[in-house]
Amino acid sequence: MTVIGVVGGGQLARMMIPGAINLGITLRVFAQSPDDCAAPAITAVGDFRSAEDLMAFCEGLDVLTFDHEHVPVAVLEALEASGVSVYPRSAALALTHDKTVMRAALAQLDIPQPRWAVLGASRNPEEVLQQVGGFPCVAKLPIGGYDGKGVRVIESFADIEDWMALGDVLLEERVNFVRELAQLGARRPGGSWVSWDAVETVQANGVCSEVIAPAVGLTEAMRADAARIGSRIAHDIDVVGILAVELFETADGVLLVNELAMRPHNSGHVFTELSVTSQFEQHLRAVSDFPLGATTLRAAHGVMVNIFGGVDPDAARSVADNYPAIKIHSYDKSPRPGRKAGHLVASGSQIEFVLQDARDAGARMNTGRYDG
Ligand SMILES: Nc1ncnc2c1ncn2[C@@H]1O[C@H](COP(=O)(O)OP(=O)(O)O)[C@@H](O)[C@H]1O
Ligand SMILES: [Mg+2]
Repeated sequence: MTVIGVVGGGQLARMMIPGAINLGITLRVFAQSPDDCAAPAITAVGDFRSAEDLMAFCEGLDVLTFDHEHVPVAVLEALEASGVSVYPRSAALALTHDKTVMRAALAQLDIPQPRWAVLGASRNPEEVLQQVGGFPCVAKLPIGGYDGKGVRVIESFADIEDWMALGDVLLEERVNFVRELAQLGARRPGGSWVSWDAVETVQANGVCSEVIAPAVGLTEAMRADAARIGSRIAHDIDVVGILAVELFETADGVLLVNELAMRPHNSGHVFTELSVTSQFEQHLRAVSDFPLGATTLRAAHGVMVNIFGGVDPDAARSVADNYPAIKIHSYDKSPRPGRKAGHLVASGSQIEFVLQDARDAGARMNTGRYDG
C-alpha cells in the first residue's frame, strides 16, 4: 500500500483524506498542532522548518507532499539528498516561496505576466517605479504573503515604508483586468498532464470569495491559451502534482500570469462535485505516479462560495433545508474573523440558477456572526 505524507494540517490536507481512502492510499499528515483541521489523518506534530522533525516523519513514506509552501528550500533539499521522494521537487517549489523568484523564472520562460521590478536597498526607487509604469502600482512582499495579506495597491512609497524597512519589495504594474481566472491541472513524474478548463475566481480584499467553473464566455482561443500556459509551466519547471496558475484576463483578451501554486488550490474546490476527479484525488494520483483521473465535468456549471469566520450550525441547517443539492464543506476549524472556515458548491445546467443558489446559500452562511 502506498504511503503518502503531507506537510501541513490545514483544509487542503483534510480534503485529501477521501481521495486517499478511495485509492487505498495511507495518508499521514505532519501538522503544527494535533487540533489542526486535518486531525483525522495527523500522525505527527512538529516544526515544518526542522529538517530533523521532517526526516523522522519521512520514515516509511513512499512520497512526501504538501498542503502549504512554507517548508524552507534548504530543508527540502536535505530531504531529497537523503533519498526521500519529494513531490513537487524543491527546485519547482522554490518558485512558490518567493514571488520575485517566480517572476524571474516566468520571464526566462517568456510566459506573459505583468511588468514587474524589485525595489531594494541598492536600487533607485524612481527607476524601479518607471519599469512598472508609475503609481498607482501593486507592491508585494516577496515571501510569506497569502490571502492578499502581502499585497497593497500603492500611490506613493510612503505606503510601504514598513515593508521597505524589511527588505526587497516586488513592484508590479497594476493590471486593469476584466476578471481573474485560474488554470488547474496535474502532472505525473513522467510528464503526463491532465487539466481542467479554466475557472473564474472572484477576489474580495485580495481573498478568493467565489469561483465560477468553467469561466463563462471564455472564447475557445482563450480557453486553449490558458490550458497552454498551464501545461508549459508544468513541463518547463517540472511540476509534479497539482499546478494552479492564477491569471488576469485583460480587456483585449490577453492572459497574464499572476502567481502559481503547486498544491490543491481554493479555485479547484469546485471540482470535488463538478468533475469526475477532485483536485485532491488528482494530486495524490500525480505524486504517487498513478494514472490521472478524467477531468470531465458532471454538470455544465459549478459555483463555489467560501465561508469565512466559522460555519454557523443554524445557517448550515437552513442552507441544507432550502438547497438539498448544495454541498457544504466545513473545515472543522474554531471560529476566527476572516478565516476560511468552509465552502459550498452548487452545480447544474443553467448558470444563472446555479449562481443565484450559490450566492443565496453563501449569504446565509456568511452572516458576519464570527466577525467579532
Ligand atoms: N499586478 C496586479 N494588478 C492588479 N491586481 C493585482 C495584481 N497583483 C495582485 N492583484 C490582486 O491581488 C490579489 C492577491 O494577489 P496575489 O499576488 O495573488 O497574492 P496572494 O498570494 O495573497 O494570493 C489578486 O488575486 C488580485 O486580485
Ligand atoms: Mg493569489
